[in-house]
Amino acid sequence: MHKLVFATNNQHKTDEIRLALAGQYEILNLNDIGCTEDIPETADTFEGNATLKSSYVVENFKLDCFADDSGLEIEALNNEPGIFSARYSGSRDTVENMQLVLQKLKGQTNRRAKFKTVISLMIAGQNHIFEGVIEGTIRESLSGIKGFGYDPIFQPNGYDITFAEMEMEEKNKISHRAIALKKMMEFLKG
Ligand code: IMP
Repeated sequence: MHKLVFATNNQHKTDEIRLALAGQYEILNLNDIGCTEDIPETADTFEGNATLKSSYVVENFKLDCFADDSGLEIEALNNEPGIFSARYSGSRDTVENMQLVLQKLKGQTNRRAKFKTVISLMIAGQNHIFEGVIEGTIRESLSGIKGFGYDPIFQPNGYDITFAEMEMEEKNKISHRAIALKKMMEFLKG
């Protein structure tokens, strides 16, 4: 079976993809191939960072690979935190990161925001890019305890709850990541 590396250490993400592509691709993650290096993410776009990760694996392990990079873009903040989402406040503390966002948006009526995921799939020497976006608004305060990252302040359009108040199964059906992954899987199955 065709081996395909998912450039992640997240076992949960790996299992999901493995199940979805069962019988078609043998999905391996970074741990499975013995890649322990911290792959640099020094580009200034999601696409650039996803491509840095996928090409690192292709070059060093000679295997086809895909990698994702995601973040939150807030319109009134010139699309910040963007690629800096994980450490916006200078730390990885998600509450501090959300508090910084809320402070910067104080008094701001434009609360429009989107989560974005970009996947780079390097297969047979070609880079294929897939993007997933979910639009919504930033709440005035935190609400809900499920999920991770900025979920407690992000309310997707068409809902009156935040991502952090939503069941995981529901978020996983509509999220930026789900949309990008679905596009890649349709490509791989086609
Ligand atoms: P990653 O590229 O998937 O690791 O995402 C980078 C950062 O973006 C995370 O550390 C979070 O701060 C933020 N982020 C990405 N996806 C989500 C999400 O689904 N909910 C909340 N925050 C997210």
